[in-house]
Order: sequence, then structure tokens, then C-alpha cells
Amino acid sequence: MSGKKIAVLADIHGNMPALRAVLEDVDRQEPDEVLVAGDLVGRGPEGSRVVATIAERGWRCLRGNHEDYLLAFVHREVPAEWWHEGEWAASRWMAAELEPSAVRFIEELPFELRPESAGGLLLVHGSPRSNNDGLGPWTSDEKLVRHLEAIDEDLLVCGHTHRPMIRSVRNGRVVNPGAVGLPFNHDQRAQYGIFHHDKAGWRVELRRVPYDIGEVLRIYETSGFQEAGGVTAELLRLEVRRAAPFLVPFIRWARLLGSKPDSEQVPEFLDFYDPDEPLHDFFIRLESLKS
Ligand SMILES: [Fe+2]
Ligand SMILES: [Fe+2]
Repeated sequence: MSGKKIAVLADIHGNMPALRAVLEDVDRQEPDEVLVAGDLVGRGPEGSRVVATIAERGWRCLRGNHEDYLLAFVHREVPAEWWHEGEWAASRWMAAELEPSAVRFIEELPFELRPESAGGLLLVHGSPRSNNDGLGPWTSDEKLVRHLEAIDEDLLVCGHTHRPMIRSVRNGRVVNPGAVGLPFNHDQRAQYGIFHHDKAGWRVELRRVPYDIGEVLRIYETSGFQEAGGVTAELLRLEVRRAAPFLVPFIRWARLLGSKPDSEQVPEFLDFYDPDEPLHDFFIRLESLKS
């Protein structure tokens, strides 16, 4: 019997131009199965279209932490001040943008998936513990060993950190195929993974597909996301262009200064923040500002 091919897409984040480019590439690969590792929505303007596109294909998906965040807004389960604070304007806009069919779709998504065509692989959004717990280059081997000990499979595939990663430890492997819509590895291309399975087990292929970044930035403007999303949309534009995190570092920096995040602070933040510096080092530097 010939082998099986499973494509895994993660962290699309409402970025339709990136998703379209990946779909063309996926179709050429002719996988047996496609799984989507969550964060279809959030941090981008076209959540409803992304959900409709994936739903139409009939691909199974996970519920990421950004599905949780937007559903909390849709169901008005957020603190009262989030309805007026500038920091949450983009989330309010993205939640309002979600069609009822998209809301129903993401509400039903599970927290873990296993492929139907081959065994030994578990897909989660963050870690097996939580969809908001990221496993990245900074995670110790020991921690990865413990996550693998807690599951039946020896290949754990996850998204959430937006950083492609293939790590082997003594009891298995942990793989992140990278982000379709918002990569953080300084490579603007849309990223996903193909997992090949045969008698020898699983082989991982990380794929990167170029697409038109300018088109996403135009959609930021034409959709109204840029204007409504304020400082958050401004930082997300930087994330798309630079393929590096800006939003979370900015919010942590602004909070440390004791101020509400706002557009006027962005130039000062950009003097302090170097997107090429590992985020872990940035947070240590940030902590040192306290003392
Ligand atoms: Fe994400
Ligand atoms: Fe996530």
C-alpha cells in the first residue's frame, strides 16, 4: 500500500490572500487529508471568509485561543471595559464581522484531532494541556518529553506560536508547521506542513508559499479594519510586513509604563523594541525596566 499525505494548516488569522496561496499549493500536493490547527479568525480582517472557505472544503479544524477570544466577545462574556477600551477595538470589530454561520462553525470545534488516514499523530492548537500554551524554540526538551508522555501518540503537531519547529526528543517529536496568515519567523511567506506517512513512520515537510502582502494591507483599509482597529490594527500591519511579533510586545511594554496602549506611543516603542531580538530576551529586558 502506498503512503499517506496529510496537510496541516495553522494560524490563518483572517488572512485570505495567504490562505488562497496555500490552497493552490495544497491542491497541487493532492493530500489524502487536510487538518486545520485553529486560529482561523482573530488578528486579521477576513475571519468570516476564512471560516466559509475552510467549511466549504469540509476540512476538520481545531478551536484555537482566538476562536475563544472572539466567541467571548460575540457572547458578551468579556469585562465591561473591553467594550470601550481602544486596546480591544480590533477584537470588537472582528467579532462583529463574524457571520452567524461562522460563529456556529467555530463554536463546535474540538480541542484535539487525529488524522483518519494514519495513526500516531495528535494535533492540538497550543499544547495538549491548553490552546493558549505555546510550545516554541524556548520550550525545554524535558517539557516536550512530559507532553509526549501524557499522550498516546509519538508525533505531536501544534500551532499557536507562529514559528515553524521540528524537535526530536527521546520519546517522540513535536512539530509546528508555522503560520499561514501571520508567521513570526521573519519569513513573510504563508507556511504550512505536509506529513508523509509510510512503513517508516512520519516524515515532515515544511512548505512556504509566497503571496501578495500588499493585498492584505489593502484589505485592512477597504474592509474598515484599519480604521476601526486603531493601534492594534497598526501593529498587526507591522506583523504582516515584518513576519515578527509586535502586538503582544507593545501591549506588555505599554502596561509596564502604566499607560493604556495607544497609537501615539508606537514610535517610542519601536525605538525600544527590536523584532530581531528573541522575544524571551525582550521580556527579560522589559522586566529589568521595573527595577
Ligand atoms: Fe495564532
Ligand atoms: Fe493561538
